[in-house]
Amino acid sequence: MRESWAREIWVLIGILVVFSGLGLAAGHPFDALLLGLAVYLALTLRHLFLLHRWLQSRRRDDIPEAAGLWGDVFDSIRLLMKETERREDQLTQTLTRFQGTSAATPDAMVVMAHNNVIEWANPAAERLLGVTSARDHGLRITNLLRDPDFAGYLESGDFTDAITIPSPERPEKTLSIQIIPFGSSQKLLIGRDITHLERLEAMRRDFVANISHELRTPLTVISGFLETLQDMEKPDFDEIRQYLAMMHEQAIRMQHLVNDLLTLSRLETEPPLLHQSTVDVPAMLAGLSQTARMLSGPRHHDIVLDVEPDLRLEGNEDELRSAFSNLINNAVRYTPADRSVILKWADSAEGARFSVIDTGDGIAPQHLPHLTERFYRVDSARSRATGGTGLGLSIVKHVLLRHDARLGIESVLGQGSTFVCQFPRLRTRRIVDTDSAQLPHHLPDTRP
Ligand SMILES: Nc1ncnc2c1ncn2[C@@H]1O[C@H](COP(=O)(O)OP(=O)(O)O)[C@@H](O)[C@H]1O
Ligand SMILES: [Mg+2]
Repeated sequence: MRESWAREIWVLIGILVVFSGLGLAAGHPFDALLLGLAVYLALTLRHLFLLHRWLQSRRRDDIPEAAGLWGDVFDSIRLLMKETERREDQLTQTLTRFQGTSAATPDAMVVMAHNNVIEWANPAAERLLGVTSARDHGLRITNLLRDPDFAGYLESGDFTDAITIPSPERPEKTLSIQIIPFGSSQKLLIGRDITHLERLEAMRRDFVANISHELRTPLTVISGFLETLQDMEKPDFDEIRQYLAMMHEQAIRMQHLVNDLLTLSRLETEPPLLHQSTVDVPAMLAGLSQTARMLSGPRHHDIVLDVEPDLRLEGNEDELRSAFSNLINNAVRYTPADRSVILKWADSAEGARFSVIDTGDGIAPQHLPHLTERFYRVDSARSRATGGTGLGLSIVKHVLLRHDARLGIESVLGQGSTFVCQFPRLRTRRIVDTDSAQLPHHLPDTRP
């Protein structure tokens, strides 16, 4: 730059010297000097004109070319423009990335300027808060979010904690709202859908309440009997035996409950299916049907086994036994005496399928979606009387989930229920074993 200035001054001096020299020779040195200055001025004006015209044209390319100081000026402008363009590109990229990220986040984001005026909002803000960036720009947030808790939160100026409000767009959803102040008076509002967390918390509360209730009843009975025993003046041996038997029954009930709880917690916490093998379901069902006959006892249910003997299942044997025995025990417990319970193990278009078909009282349709919920019972007294914990079908559901299977329940009041465990084809195996084909547990289908 310095060099070009020096050159420019030399050019000016050169012009002045040449013109005043020629002027001296012609006898008009002063006029010649003026002429020289006018030529220099004309050259300068021409460059200024070119620059002005180019600036006016607003075109970024073809900046005028020139030599000397003007060339330097044009080059500097060209460099400056390139730098600006690079920065603009960077800024655009950053903005695109930010918009992409904020559009993808499930959380609502609203940027507010001074006085809580909406400046910008992401798409989730429309879904959760009903705030639209284009439509609501310039409006106060309190015009749209009218919840009194939110107004109080905004006014308080204390944004250490988040607050919880119902979503103005979908009142069934619960939102956690956190405000983060930034800059001089701007704020960022983040709204998170915490409906599922709230639901989980409610479930946890219910669960604790349910367990406490389930344990309290047998404990009350046991401590009642113990008190009676203590107060007995002349203990009668038969009476004591009777009390002890009843206390034992309650203790077994608590044992069942704790066992089922432990099974459930294992199913929920253990990584999916550590010990997998090809399970011999027909053999397992033969054993379970024997246990079911014992459970049926004097009620003499007709327990029918209908199995494809070479059909096997890839899975965890203990878990499957637990699920199947829960379904079989339910069928026996909720089916009146002398009626039939069919245990069917067969292949289907989708894959292996285990069905328990009973001829019991059936379940009303409104209960069906809730049966696998913990402690859900259609008839609590009846469930307890038969030794139920209300956790059996939850265990079944979890085991099936871990085997990529699903539970189907069909029931007609007064006619009976069918519980179907549908396993996927990927887990279905077939053993080519001539011996097992003759095993006695393949009985003909004797369904009515
Ligand atoms: N085969 C069935 N027939 C009629 N009702 C059933 C049958 N299986 C389950 N239920 C109903 O579903 C409820 C939940 O079953 P489950 O989770 O196994 O708990 P429970 O310990 O009470 O058997 C039972 O209390 C009962 O009301
Ligand atoms: Mg049960």
